[in-house]
Amino acid sequence: MARAVEVSIFGPVAASLDRFEVLVRESIEADGPPLAGPMGELFAAGGKRIRPALVLLAGRLGRPSDAHLHAALAVELVHAATLVHDDVIDRSALRRGRPTVAAALGDSPAIVVGDFYFAKAYREAALTGDAGVVGAIAEAVMRICRGELEQNASRHCYRTSLAAYRARIESKTAALLAAGAWVGGRLGGLDRERQEALRRYGLELGLAFQIADDVLDYIATEAELGKPVGHDLLEGHATLPLLLSELAEPLPEGRPLSPAKVAAVVAEVRAAGGPERALEEARRHAAGAREQLVVLPAGPARDSLERLAGYVVERRL
Ligand code: IPE
Ligand code: IPE
Ligand code: MG
Ligand code: MG
Repeated sequence: MARAVEVSIFGPVAASLDRFEVLVRESIEADGPPLAGPMGELFAAGGKRIRPALVLLAGRLGRPSDAHLHAALAVELVHAATLVHDDVIDRSALRRGRPTVAAALGDSPAIVVGDFYFAKAYREAALTGDAGVVGAIAEAVMRICRGELEQNASRHCYRTSLAAYRARIESKTAALLAAGAWVGGRLGGLDRERQEALRRYGLELGLAFQIADDVLDYIATEAELGKPVGHDLLEGHATLPLLLSELAEPLPEGRPLSPAKVAAVVAEVRAAGGPERALEEARRHAAGAREQLVVLPAGPARDSLERLAGYVVERRL
């Protein structure tokens, strides 16, 4: 589905990504019907595959190996598990243009499916043979859980500070991209300074990516995204476009908004230029990501990482 857009950006690792797709399919099928059904559909429905591409591109900066494929799989399995859980938490009915696992099976089975996929990710990470990689991925999952809990605790807090917003998106999204980039460099045998530059690249990329996601929730359509729009505010999440907008009257702290009120606020935020200001912040993080690349070996993989930083901000899906 969404792959076509990325093919040019992921060029240097296109063949590895094709291999990745085969391995994912085989791995899911091996789990048998009750689990293979819903997850097979989630993976078949597409997804941009940004995280595995990041692991593989970082690997290309050094010596690529099979360990990179295991790591790419581990990171994407973590991502899939978080999506399944996130759609329970966000009460979201649509993912990648299809019913969410929670909508199809119910919340409780969806939580178990997500748990299964976290465990599957760690098993895959262990196949890299590098305990440091397993540790980094486990640490990223701990950060994601913390981020989701923080977000839950600040539901309906419409006056969230910019610092709290930034901490939340760093945990829930950027930490995994940072880990993916770092892991790719480490397994490729890059020195510590370059591993660290990759970690910071992934972090900045992740911040830009989540801000853009939050902007799309205000300006895109459900058909483009394959997931609900205007949904963040309906669920009580104050994201950057709202935080950067001046509203005619403040929102009622601590209280949910009706769907009609949400529609009105979304229109007001758009008119106030909140999405555009948020995108400027996303572009600053993308520039911060690009700055990290100067210490990394020049070549097609680094060029791809450069383009990826632009893509995550300008994307429409
Ligand atoms: C969605 O991630 C969740 C966020 C962190 C915003 P993606 O936008 O990468 O989802 P897929 O994998 O392409 O569907
Ligand atoms: C992503 O945040 C959180 C995850 C770590 C999965 P969102 O809640 O904004 O993601 P979408 O918009 O549902 O994909
Ligand atoms: Mg969500
Ligand atoms: Mg979102």
